[in-house]
Amino acid sequence: MTITTDSAFKVAKGPAGRAMAEPMQVELVEALHQHLTMERNASVQYFAISLWFAERELRGFSKFFNDEAQNEQEHASKFSEYLIARGQSVVLEDLKSPIQSWQDIEEIFSASFLMEADVTTSLHQLYATAERDSDYRTTVFLDPVVEGQTSSEDEFAYLLGRVKFAQNQPSALLIIDSELNG
Ligand SMILES: [Fe+2]
Repeated sequence: MTITTDSAFKVAKGPAGRAMAEPMQVELVEALHQHLTMERNASVQYFAISLWFAERELRGFSKFFNDEAQNEQEHASKFSEYLIARGQSVVLEDLKSPIQSWQDIEEIFSASFLMEADVTTSLHQLYATAERDSDYRTTVFLDPVVEGQTSSEDEFAYLLGRVKFAQNQPSALLIIDSELNG
């Protein structure tokens, strides 16, 4: 009788030792890490903006940006959970110091809109990389994220338009502020 130690059921393991159904290309893992950092930077930036408004008695704007900061943190969590689900280790990179001084409210919304557009571009690049690698688990994961990101851009475009229209007039800005406080 021969005792064999070679099992037919060999499970591949990722860097953290978790079972891994399909290995990921290094380039895709790095791109996911970079995107995760982008979401965390966005969260810190929105939190800083929320404080800027809180210091100026604009509680509606402050609440809006505090909610956005939390949304970005949730996105960061989603990407982390996805990396772990794929058997990868999560690398938390250094974050940027947020901008805390602004010329006016329009500048804040312009910068925020551009930041959202950058996040969308990063998602599209991730998608293209995943498709190139035929990594369909990642494209399926990204589908609802890309959809949500397009809605975010739309929301920021709307608010930027409203703030531009207000032309820095306090009475008009206070109306937007109460809307956002609802
Ligand atoms: Fe996000």
